[in-house]
Amino acid sequence: MAEAARATRAKAGPAIHKGLVGLVVDNSAISRVNPETNSLTYYGYPVQDLARHCTFEEVAYLLANGELPSRAQLSRFRRAERALREIDRDHVGVIARFSRAAHPMDTLRTAVSYLGTREVAWGGEKPATDKRRAMALLAKIPTVMATDYRFRDAKRRIRPRDDLSFSENFCYMCFGRKPAPEVARALDTSLILYAEHGFNASTFAARVVASTLSDIYSAVTAAIGALKGPLHGGANEAVMHMLGEIGTPARAEAWIRGAIERKRLIMGFGHRVYRTGDSRVPTMNKCLEDLSAWKGDDRWLRITQTLARVVIAEKGIHPNLDFPSGPAYDLMGFDIDLFTPIFVMSRITGWSAHYLEQIADNRLIRPLSAYTGPPQRKVRPLARR
Ligand code: COA
Repeated sequence: MAEAARATRAKAGPAIHKGLVGLVVDNSAISRVNPETNSLTYYGYPVQDLARHCTFEEVAYLLANGELPSRAQLSRFRRAERALREIDRDHVGVIARFSRAAHPMDTLRTAVSYLGTREVAWGGEKPATDKRRAMALLAKIPTVMATDYRFRDAKRRIRPRDDLSFSENFCYMCFGRKPAPEVARALDTSLILYAEHGFNASTFAARVVASTLSDIYSAVTAAIGALKGPLHGGANEAVMHMLGEIGTPARAEAWIRGAIERKRLIMGFGHRVYRTGDSRVPTMNKCLEDLSAWKGDDRWLRITQTLARVVIAEKGIHPNLDFPSGPAYDLMGFDIDLFTPIFVMSRITGWSAHYLEQIADNRLIRPLSAYTGPPQRKVRPLARR
């Protein structure tokens, strides 16, 4: 359906843009999501080229500064990030008190919000202040996640190391050993692909909060809440639950045909902007293939291949990035409920860039609604109701 035709009219009222479909609400220089060419660029660089030639730290620098770093700039950026990785004892104490049954997205949201209580944070401050906070969020989120991950398994926390890359250090803090190069590279690639994606729901949530001149911690806390939903970042976990339900490649074709017949929502397929494929998928598919070969386990790979073939042929709907990233994270050894927090670990770079961009040229985001409730009426005092 053409985007314009999606705007419906409430009984002779204004056009309703439900879901804000097709609306362009602001300018942004950070990334370009182009549905015509199915491409995604960060400050002009195609994401698949960034994944091929760069580390996640280089991409984080790009999103923070608008340019890829020189060697000296990268080394300064790395030093700054590594120096901020540790969290203090009070913060560890807060994480220790979370219920073991809580979802890691909820504990992460709360732990990030807690960071905002460690200083008097007000929005719209000097960009340098917000940049410093953005760097602290980037550096500390993996530590928060790994600490929570270890505590929920009744294990001692592992402190961050400053001699490991961003991806290596996260695996080390979770598992207590440096990851295999295959795992570190695949994780790094997924972080590059997840880092930024225009005015998606969580980024828009962050920008709405920024537009009130609230602080970056509040904006990121809101963004984490938005990302958790299965129609957004939560889809990478939902994909893995679906693959678990299918179980074996032999069951995949019958399962997916049955799901299509029952008009079930198939997780990891479809996209609000891309209609004929997500440009990030081939790169992540390659990671899934490489990890399957490295592990000698191609069960998920074969199931995903069958699902993609049938859904594209029968419904014309293509996989999105969450489809290959879910099983890839499983092969890397992560629990399913860590998949969406890993997305946060990456997307914090995009959210921070959007927070700063919004603040730099702000206008309060405040749309309208068409009223459909009862007509105006008189209040009868309680005694007469
Ligand atoms: N499984 C089954 N049908 C799907 C589908 C999916 N994953 N994604 C879209 N469709 C169908 C819709 O039901 C709709 O059918 P209809 O026209 O007969 O009602 C049609 O395709 C068009 O989809 P639309 O409703 O316009 O999509 P949207 O832009 O509102 O929503 C998503 C986009 C991402 C929310 C949606 O595709 C979805 O829920 N996908 C699964 C969750 C997911 O993977 N999320 C991660 C996104 S990166």
